[in-house]
Amino acid sequence: MAKTVLVTGGCGFIGVNFVRLLLRERQDWRVINLDKLTYAGNLQSLADVSSHPNYSFVKGDICDAALLATLFREQQIDTVAHFAAESHVDRSITGPAEFIQTNVVGTFTLLEAAKKHWSGKSEGCRFLHVSTDEVFGSLGATGFFTEETAYDPRSPYSASKASSDHLARAYFHTYGLPVLITNCSNNYGPYQFPEKLIPLILNNGLHGRPLPVYGDGGNIRDWLYVQDHCEAIVRVIEQGRLGESYNIGGHNEKTNLHVVQLLCDLLDQKAAPLPSGQPRRSLISFVKDRLGHDRRYAIDAGKVAEKLDWLPKVTFEQGIAKTVDWYLANRDWTASVTDGSYQQYYQNMYGDRA
Ligand code: NAD
Ligand code: DAU
Repeated sequence: MAKTVLVTGGCGFIGVNFVRLLLRERQDWRVINLDKLTYAGNLQSLADVSSHPNYSFVKGDICDAALLATLFREQQIDTVAHFAAESHVDRSITGPAEFIQTNVVGTFTLLEAAKKHWSGKSEGCRFLHVSTDEVFGSLGATGFFTEETAYDPRSPYSASKASSDHLARAYFHTYGLPVLITNCSNNYGPYQFPEKLIPLILNNGLHGRPLPVYGDGGNIRDWLYVQDHCEAIVRVIEQGRLGESYNIGGHNEKTNLHVVQLLCDLLDQKAAPLPSGQPRRSLISFVKDRLGHDRRYAIDAGKVAEKLDWLPKVTFEQGIAKTVDWYLANRDWTASVTDGSYQQYYQNMYGDRA
């Protein structure tokens, strides 16, 4: 069915992959990408699809109620895919204010805009709120997060995401807003900002720089290839039951040290050797642990498999090889992010309107 989708945060890592998926696989959907272009937003990542007839970009803040009202009215938005957020846990520890502003106030402002615009005519409309498994806290050696697991966020980031989940759910129960929530595990793949573990290790490893592993490297994450996540979100928009949440995970629990060692070995196989002749594992450096570092995340994705027939298609071995290949083939992308020149792209494209 044709849709007009407001994608918030479409210039971030997952948003870029999601916009690309929609333009490729949902040709009767119009896509409006609303992004503030914070440090994490990279408009250049969508340069090759920027003139697609179904795509438009709006630079703006989800906290801007007037802008949202105009967009909903003028574009007749019937679907929201809400990715925009401050997403990096380490930054939330050193500077939590932006996380409260965007993740809590921004989500509230967006929910209000949808409620006002869809009032009395929400049939067929969908508000998909993208959230994280981090709202459930930290697991011990066994067990999995299910949709029934009690919320127990432990970082400013996860607390802000938990708040936004509660708001989204409250708008369903109180106002009947057609809300859906997804709680996903760690994504990896193309276009991820190189502050996150996998692209950071790849970038440092390529340049022979130290590879920081927090604490003992025994923390566990459940890795999901970003394309699989994006396909799950489309499935939930199209078939999800209103008011419900769906856990999305990759069934790929790995310790951080395992992931870093694997990346070292893949770089040794696929890239030029280090000038020292040493294997890249020699660059691994155990550093001071993250404050409040959650030990283990693991998703039980049984509900989305059973109810919506969604399973991840990409194994960790396939996904990590594809990811290494992408970063090796797109070194310019990483270089423009690390030297900051990606932030000029919007100015160059839009000039005085920037
Ligand atoms: P990201 O940090 O790469 O991108 C965030 C995007 O949001 C950027 O383009 C940024 O410019 C934009 N943005 C930030 N503040 C904004 C504002 N006030 N108004 C408009 N745009 C704004 O994040 P990501 O990794 O792509 O994550 C996307 C969503 O998925 C987030 O909500 C995150 O919590 C959630 N999530 C991420 C992961 C993961 O592993 N990356 C896993 C589970 C859930
Ligand atoms: O679980 C989903 C979450 O995954 C998302 O909600 C977040 O937005 C996303 O950033 C991610 O959070 P993490 O904190 O798990 O991702 P990060 O890449 O920052 O770290 C992954 C693990 O690697 C974590 O245990 C910390 C560790 N780490 C990270 C960095 C950046 C290191 O050991 N060294 C590093 O340099």
